[in-house]
Amino acid sequence: MTSRIPYRTLSGNSRLAGVMGWPVSHSKSPRLHGYWLAKYGIDGSYMPLPVEPKNFQAALNSLRNLGFSGVNVTIPQKEMAMPECDELSERARRIGAVNTVTFAKDGRMLGDNTDGFGFIENLRQEAPDIAFCSGPAVVLGAGGASRAVLVALLDEGSPEIRIANRTRKRADDLAAEINDPRITVIGWPVAPTALENASLVVNTTSLGMVGQPALEIDLTGLPPSALVTDIVYAPLMTDLLMQAKKRGNPIVDGLGMLLHQARPGFHRWFGIDPEVTQELRDFVLSPD
Ligand code: ATR
Repeated sequence: MTSRIPYRTLSGNSRLAGVMGWPVSHSKSPRLHGYWLAKYGIDGSYMPLPVEPKNFQAALNSLRNLGFSGVNVTIPQKEMAMPECDELSERARRIGAVNTVTFAKDGRMLGDNTDGFGFIENLRQEAPDIAFCSGPAVVLGAGGASRAVLVALLDEGSPEIRIANRTRKRADDLAAEINDPRITVIGWPVAPTALENASLVVNTTSLGMVGQPALEIDLTGLPPSALVTDIVYAPLMTDLLMQAKKRGNPIVDGLGMLLHQARPGFHRWFGIDPEVTQELRDFVLSPD
């Protein structure tokens, strides 16, 4: 008689991946990849891997030796992963951080950064008419997320990008490093002046996130057709998005960026480019 068990088991050929970070308990990636593994009936597993920064290097190399297909790396290890990789994608090099590591069959460690890809794909899916080259973009914030967004927008042909950050020097340094004449830095207190004739506004700061103050910016000067998006996804409707929606601007929330940035890793490790659907969004948002 065949015994029936209520859950999927792994075979000896299972492909393994996971997310390394410290802490990692907040990560939605295991739930996200777990959904896709079940949906596509893949013999594989994706697990949370809490690794203290001091153990990062040894842990990453151990995963390679253990036959893992790859891992995502999250805060604070995105920069630490760079020197460990044998090869970096061009976008990882330009963004200066790695979020997706693939262990190739020959043992080489390949580092990529898919955050900018996730940002663009989310906007393409949620606002299919978007034309990144149609007008200036305003990027609020100059941290790691901002860097990925900037590089992605430049690659999509954005004609002008205005960055405003609370700490001016950080924005100046970022602009100098990326070194593209389309980038200009605007003072944080006068950020609303940057909204004039903009076609896209992106919040890459942590303002608006649960437990953080709201991002308070006067949107009066923003054209009503400009798309407003936030990389914060907890809550889904940030104050910025609510304010923009109230005045009639199209908005896109930040959850899709998280979902789409996971696609290239899943594709490489498990062999399928997975779909981002409403059902997936609901599943990822539902309590564990
Ligand atoms: P991430 O990698 O997620 O981008 P980060 O590098 O810590 O995180 O960057 C956080 C961003 O949020 C920065 O742009 C930060 O501004 P500073 O460079 O001035 O720190 C911004 N930020 C965080 N708290 C803020 C606040 N209370 N007011 C304005 N900006 C804030």
